[in-house]
Amino acid sequence: MRILLLGASGFVGGGLWTALADRHEVVGTFATRRVPGLVPLDLRDERALALLAGEGGFDLVVHAAGLVPLEAAESDPVLAHALNVRPVEVLLDSLRGSAAKLLLLSSDNVFDGTRPRYTEDDPRSPVNVYGRTKAAAEDLLLADGTHLVVRIPLVFGRSPWADTFLARMAGPRTAAQTDLVCAPLYLPSLAPALTRLWDRTGVVHYGGREVVTRFELMSRVQRALGLPTRVVPVRDREIHPDCRRPPRLVLRSARHSLEGPDLDSALAHLAADATG
Ligand SMILES: NC(=O)c1ccc[n+]([C@@H]2O[C@H](COP(=O)([O-])OP(=O)(O)OC[C@H]3O[C@@H](n4cnc5c(N)ncnc54)[C@H](OP(=O)(O)O)[C@@H]3O)[C@@H](O)[C@H]2O)c1
Repeated sequence: MRILLLGASGFVGGGLWTALADRHEVVGTFATRRVPGLVPLDLRDERALALLAGEGGFDLVVHAAGLVPLEAAESDPVLAHALNVRPVEVLLDSLRGSAAKLLLLSSDNVFDGTRPRYTEDDPRSPVNVYGRTKAAAEDLLLADGTHLVVRIPLVFGRSPWADTFLARMAGPRTAAQTDLVCAPLYLPSLAPALTRLWDRTGVVHYGGREVVTRFELMSRVQRALGLPTRVVPVRDREIHPDCRRPPRLVLRSARHSLEGPDLDSALAHLAADATG
C-alpha cells in the first residue's frame, strides 16, 4: 500500500512511521523537525498540500499533523483552525475523485468528560479550542462518507524523533494530575490497530484498556523505567489555569473489539525497549 503520513516527524507520527514503513511504501512529512527521509511540508501551503496528496498516487493518507498542545490552541484559535481544520478541507478537495482514503487522527477531547465512557455515537461537546478544531475537522471529513476518523486518547510510549512523552520524565520532577482520568494508549499498539481498521468509514474509537489518573500513569511509568524523576501530584488547574481539560476521558468502541494492551504489559514492553 502507498501511504502519505502527514506529521511523521511528530510523537504519534514517528511511532506510526516506524511501524508502517517496514511493510508499506510510506511518504512522511515534517514541518520544523527535520528528519532524514521525510519530506518538508507546511500544512498552510495549500498548493503544496493539495499537490502532494492529490498527485502522489496514494492509497491512504494518514493525517497526524497539526497543532496539538492544548495551551497553544487555546491561546491562538486562528492558528489552531489554520492547522487543524483548513488542511482537512484542502485534503478532501484534493482527494475527491481519487481512490485514496483519508484517515484523520482525532481526539477524545471532542468530548466534555462528564460521562463515564464514550462510544462512537455519543454526542460531542468539546470544552477547549483544540477539541473544537478536532470536532470541526471530523465534521468536514464525515460529510464525505468515504473517509475515516480514528479517535484516540492520551498516548504514551517512546517515539523515534519526537520523544515528547518521556521527555516529561527527563528532569528531577514532573507534575501529574490526580483529577484527570484517562484510558491511555500505548503508542506501539496504534499502527497494528489502524491497519485492522482502515478499511472502515465513519468514526471509530481506539483506546487503552485501563482507566487511571494521569498521576497514576506517570507514577507507573516512572517505576517501570526506574527513573529518578519525582512524580508530583497536582490538580489540573494548578498547572493549566488557562485551558480546560475534560475530567474523565475513556474511549470505548461500539464498532469493534480492539483495545490497547493493559498497562503492565505496555510498561514491561517500554522498559525492555529502554534497555535495548
Ligand atoms: N499525543 C497524544 O496523546 C494524542 C492524543 C489524541 C490525539 N492525538 C492526535 O494525534 C496527532 C499527532 O499528535 P502528536 O502528539 O504526535 O503531536 P506532535 O508531536 O505535536 O506532532 C505534530 C505533527 O504535526 C506537524 N506539524 C505541526 N505544525 C505543522 C505545520 N504548520 N505544517 C505541517 N506539519 C505541521 C509536526 O511537524 P514538526 O514536528 O516537524 O514541526 C508534527 O509532525 C494529532 O492529530 C493529535 O490530535 C494525539
